[in-house]
Amino acid sequence: MEQYVIKGGNPLVGEVTIGGAKNAALGILAAAIMSDEDVIIDNLPDVSDINVLLQAIASIGADVVRISRNVVKINGKNIHSFCIDDGFIRKIRASYYLLGALLGKYKEAEVALPGGCNIGSRPIDQHLKGFRALGAKVEINNSMIVAKAEHLKARHIYLDVVSVGATINIMLAASMAEGRTILENAAKEPHIVDVANFLNSMGADIKGAGTDVIRIRGVEKLHGTEYTIIPDQIEAGTFMCAAVATQGDVTVKHVIPKHLESISAKLIEMGAEIEELDDAVRVVASKRLQPTNIKTLPYPGFPTDMQPQAVIALALADGTSVITESIFENRFRYVDELTRMGAHIKVEGNTAIIIGIPRYKGAHMSAPDLRAGAALVIAALAADGYSTIDSIGYIQRGYEDFEGKLRSLGACIERVENEKDIQKFKLKIG
Ligand code: EPZ
Repeated sequence: MEQYVIKGGNPLVGEVTIGGAKNAALGILAAAIMSDEDVIIDNLPDVSDINVLLQAIASIGADVVRISRNVVKINGKNIHSFCIDDGFIRKIRASYYLLGALLGKYKEAEVALPGGCNIGSRPIDQHLKGFRALGAKVEINNSMIVAKAEHLKARHIYLDVVSVGATINIMLAASMAEGRTILENAAKEPHIVDVANFLNSMGADIKGAGTDVIRIRGVEKLHGTEYTIIPDQIEAGTFMCAAVATQGDVTVKHVIPKHLESISAKLIEMGAEIEELDDAVRVVASKRLQPTNIKTLPYPGFPTDMQPQAVIALALADGTSVITESIFENRFRYVDELTRMGAHIKVEGNTAIIIGIPRYKGAHMSAPDLRAGAALVIAALAADGYSTIDSIGYIQRGYEDFEGKLRSLGACIERVENEKDIQKFKLKIG
């Protein structure tokens, strides 16, 4: 079992380049199969979630050619199956974007029903409500979602909860429905805008993405395109928090600073200095952090995907902070791990009360999910002594070459397989 071994205590210093947005890429890859022409996608992050979705796409007959590490060519003309089985959904929930894509293109799709996951129960009722509103018959048979329609007909759809996944899935299906769909109470995340821009570059007619009303005029066909995915807001925010928690000085390059505003605002409240450049942000922390309160909210609010990383910094602040998690009910599971490092955090329902300590102590920990795993790495980098973190497969789902990028900033971190490797690392580092 792979683990990270980390020796903490070095401030992170230098420059790091951010890759393409994983959560935009998942929607974009699904959308790509809707054309029978070549679609070339650049700035695709080389992370395991993306690679599994590419396998799912290939499994139904789409041609998938990896042109280079971060560029892929997809052509959907040879698709021969509309069924995505349980194996893919278990590995990556977002395979359900193929439901919207296949339903839009072929008016038929069958995808295994995703269960809950490590961060919450995660229902998909709003996705299904959207498909039904567009005229599809949607049934659950033997844990498979089966959606079929003679024609998809545009409708006025109001989402009961602001959902990234439902917004993308409905946009996909409505792009090839007859008439103009109006989607109200839509999610506004940067990756929604990116998926809409991508679909428009294939000939779709989507207006208003990035606001809470999206208008989608269906088209008969989508053509080929070449497209570059936006930078990953959450990868960028993770490195920003790592700079702050380690009292470092990091320039996070190839980002859209506007997408990082809610994160920058909170780090400034903690006492960090943030300099916004055209496509980079420099983050400097040179004194003990100050406490603050954070509530996670849909964009442009503070992202739930940054909650654990922010807590790592706040648990080192000089005072008490309160974090409220309002999106997913099970996103404080890492707190028990952090307690092993000496953190003082009390979780009550969806709120964590954090009493800052001056330093973490190295410990053995286990990553409970993707973002919490990345957060524990940051804690280990800020800690005195050695730490080990297992279940790092979660981290590899969403961060390309995480340890390599951290090492380039001066971190002592290595991916190891056994106790012998850990001893070697300790001898090397001293
Ligand atoms: C997306 O998940 C992201 N995943 C998540 O990132 C992210 O945490 C989340 O949005 C919130 O920003 C992808 O983009 C692949 P939602 P998603 O539908 O689409 C409730 C990461 O670490 N809801 O916006 O599943 C739901 O339970 C991952 O990269 C319903 O009630 O999230 C939640 O409380 C983890 N019914 C809220 O809405 C529905 O039909 C928002 O969920 C759908 C959602």
